[in-house]
Amino acid sequence: MQNKVSVIGAGNVGASCALFAAQQGLGDIVLTDIVEGLPQGKALDMLQCGSPLDTDISITGTNDYKDIEGSDVVIVTAGLARKPGMDRLDLLKKNAEICGGIAEAIKTHAPDAVVIVVSNPIDVMVYHTFKVTGFPKERVIGQAGVLDSSRCAAFIAMELGVAVTDIQAMVLGGHGDTMVPLPRYTTVSGVPITELIPKDRIDAISERTQKGGGEIVNLLKTGSAYYAPAASSVKMAASILNDTHHVLPCSAYLEGEYGLNDVYVGVPCQLGRKGLEKIIELDLTEDEKNKLHSSAGVYKESLKDLGY
Ligand code: LAC
Repeated sequence: MQNKVSVIGAGNVGASCALFAAQQGLGDIVLTDIVEGLPQGKALDMLQCGSPLDTDISITGTNDYKDIEGSDVVIVTAGLARKPGMDRLDLLKKNAEICGGIAEAIKTHAPDAVVIVVSNPIDVMVYHTFKVTGFPKERVIGQAGVLDSSRCAAFIAMELGVAVTDIQAMVLGGHGDTMVPLPRYTTVSGVPITELIPKDRIDAISERTQKGGGEIVNLLKTGSAYYAPAASSVKMAASILNDTHHVLPCSAYLEGEYGLNDVYVGVPCQLGRKGLEKIIELDLTEDEKNKLHSSAGVYKESLKDLGY
């Protein structure tokens, strides 16, 4: 039987997720949104890419959550996006309302799915989804670190002129300005960038990575990034559906790992068919650990605003 992937939210991130997933043949794609005609129209448009892209595309659009039934993976992208001058945390209350409703629908209609949350602020929305669905932590994961690491990798490739595919970047922490790029664990074909790039340039790359989402918001002026967020989400979905056990930085529920408890924050995760298979605990310096803890602290505070 074909895998089934549902994408909730047919905005820019959701539609791009659907297209990347369809192009990669991840399975039957269901694109849902509350706006009548929007998911149906975009799905039909994508279906018609089959011939020019020379690939079989299986995608439908719907306004009915019942159609996500039997999903193996659900990617949640719905919610408001940032505009210039806004922090991701400014979206907290409104997106929590939206994500809470979606989590209820997933619980009812796709109780066996692995859920990937992309809506911002991700580390809070994924916690909320975890609580509302009541799913095990293995099946509720946030997308953030893959995107942040891919931004970091792009900047390193620009700096060194090397193939981006040779770069393994590692960015931990929450998906916000407090994220924690780890140059010691970021390599070009196995060589740490600390041996290839001077410290002041590494610092500049880390800062650009931390502010990478904002850089795009400021350029677009009417919304936030979507191609790389979508590609990153689909990379996670692929590792789950194809059971490839990739190790990717994801927002995961921590119960003592890295000295943190009852919070979702970005850490290296092994992803396979069951979702989160393992959290890898890196040996961090005191400074790196402090930065990770202070990043987690920001999200703990926001969880309080939601009544957790
Ligand atoms: C970004 C948004 C999607 O980082 O969080 O671009």
